Amino acid sequence: MFRLFLSCCNLNSSLLCRTTASEICKVNYSDRAVKSSKNILYTQTIQKMHIPALRLNNGNVIPAIGYGTSRENDEALEKALDSALKAGYRHIDTAHFYMNEKPIGNVLNRWITEGKLKREEIFLVTKLPPFGNRPAGVKKYLKQSLENLQVEYVDLYLIHGPFGVKDVEEVPHPGISSGNFELDTTDILSVWKEMENQMNAGLAKAIGVSNFNKSQIERLLKNCTIKPSCLQIEIHGYLQQNELVDFCKTNNIIVTAFSPLGSRSMTSFSAKRGTKLDLPDVLSDPTIQKIAKKHSKTEAQVMLRFDIQRGIIPIPKSSNPERMQQNLDIFEFELDEQDLKELKSLDAGIRFFHFRNVGCIAEHPEYPFENKF
Ligand SMILES: *[C@@H]1O[C@H](CO)[C@@H](O)[C@H](O)[C@H]1NC(C)=O
Ligand SMILES: *[C@@H]1O[C@H](CO)[C@@H](O)[C@H](O)[C@H]1NC(C)=O
Ligand SMILES: *[C@@H]1O[C@H](CO)[C@@H](O)[C@H](O)[C@H]1NC(C)=O
Repeated sequence: MFRLFLSCCNLNSSLLCRTTASEICKVNYSDRAVKSSKNILYTQTIQKMHIPALRLNNGNVIPAIGYGTSRENDEALEKALDSALKAGYRHIDTAHFYMNEKPIGNVLNRWITEGKLKREEIFLVTKLPPFGNRPAGVKKYLKQSLENLQVEYVDLYLIHGPFGVKDVEEVPHPGISSGNFELDTTDILSVWKEMENQMNAGLAKAIGVSNFNKSQIERLLKNCTIKPSCLQIEIHGYLQQNELVDFCKTNNIIVTAFSPLGSRSMTSFSAKRGTKLDLPDVLSDPTIQKIAKKHSKTEAQVMLRFDIQRGIIPIPKSSNPERMQQNLDIFEFELDEQDLKELKSLDAGIRFFHFRNVGCIAEHPEYPFENKF
């Protein structure tokens, strides 16, 4: 699979030239990065940092680490994203469902207007919300996202989940405020067809899915015209998803990992809503701590590096500028065979984001996590 990435690497591609044009973000072929991780194509030099990128099956490149966002207050998010861009993040992950696209759009627009950034230097990802999971919903919600983000296109548009809920016109985000979804039938094949149409219309450069399981992706692959470029799923030390990751590699689908550092965001998300969850803290695992100490790195850096060496793109969240910087600083060290073996042994199939606490999602016919909870 790694060979697949390399074989489609066209060094003369206009994409690379286009990126080279800028002051802030110079494309740099770093031998070291290519050697240390076979799937890595080239690096972007941002603020003296060399950030590698992978190639999607549509030919475009995607930075090997992203900045994950979630629903926080607008002011805090604008400040955090500003720091993230300063730190060098150029791959930004959001979703209509997070209700945070507007502040993200404000920050990007500011950077672009001030000439600090070009649109094409950003890899912007957003997602079709569950209440838009029908053919007519795709264009409707993608257009809303583009307007919120103040851009003409996104680099990657994902179906947020395989399950759909009813769209209630007067309620902008059915289910979020009430926590009560009304399930709707969802035909993922006809939704996908419409995703393809939007890509062909130029509103998304690439399309993919999130929270789909293997059999759902297989159904798409059998019936699609454009193959999904990306699968975004929960991956961390205790949920490594080897089977699904291997399946995606075989099918040239890039995997992005949400919650790459474990349960922290889930724990704080629930705490804000008054539910105290007793979830294991992945980063305090003694094995991870030992390996971090060995390399003089943080536990988070070790786990992000683990993803990189597995060919997975982590999208960690952080609002702390120092930690954001640390999370990017994972391309100058390497985990050895012994580290990898020990980290692999931590896999315990512990899923934090199973959506069983979100209304009756688990009763949806397309609920993806039936067998492996
Ligand atoms: C690219 O990165 C390498 C490795 O960090 C560095 O030695 C080299 O000078 C850089 N080249 C350019 C053109 O920036
Ligand atoms: C999807 O593909 C399978 C296998 O090629 C085929 O049997 C099935 O009819 C297709 N479904 C749709 C809705 O096109
Ligand atoms: C995948 O999702 C389908 C729903 O489309 C479900 O029937 C199936 O059990 C799921 N597979 C696994 C492995 O959970």
